[in-house]
Amino acid sequence: MSLVAWSEDLTVGVAAVDADHRKLFSLVNYLYDSMILGKEKPVIDEFIGSLVVYTQQHFDREEAFFEETAYPDRAAHKKEHEDLIAQITEAHKKYKSDASSTQLLEMIGFLNKWMIEHIRKSDKKYAPHLKERGIS
Ligand SMILES: [Fe+2]
Ligand SMILES: [Fe+2]
Repeated sequence: MSLVAWSEDLTVGVAAVDADHRKLFSLVNYLYDSMILGKEKPVIDEFIGSLVVYTQQHFDREEAFFEETAYPDRAAHKKEHEDLIAQITEAHKKYKSDASSTQLLEMIGFLNKWMIEHIRKSDKKYAPHLKERGIS
């Protein structure tokens, strides 16, 4: 089953970014499914590790666009990315010491909410700036 549903209103309008976002949603869904299916801790642990790596790669991609186009709000946006990586790394640590479904659900719920809010409030804000500079 799907926990996080992609909806069209999450489209930013920059192809590479939208592809990344869809992938991130499917990774979080996969994490949720793994929990429901009762996958073992090492499997889930490794998956969370790759989710963090993929999230960082996505942030790097957005930040490269910011540098390339001198996006004025890039410092604040980067700070949001850094905060998320710090929080998810912390949640991963917690999972390592307490591999309970409650712990995992808390992380999944947090990721879900964060992604939706960040895409809606922050990612959508840079789209016009990038598009005006030929990135779409
Ligand atoms: Fe993003
Ligand atoms: Fe972002």
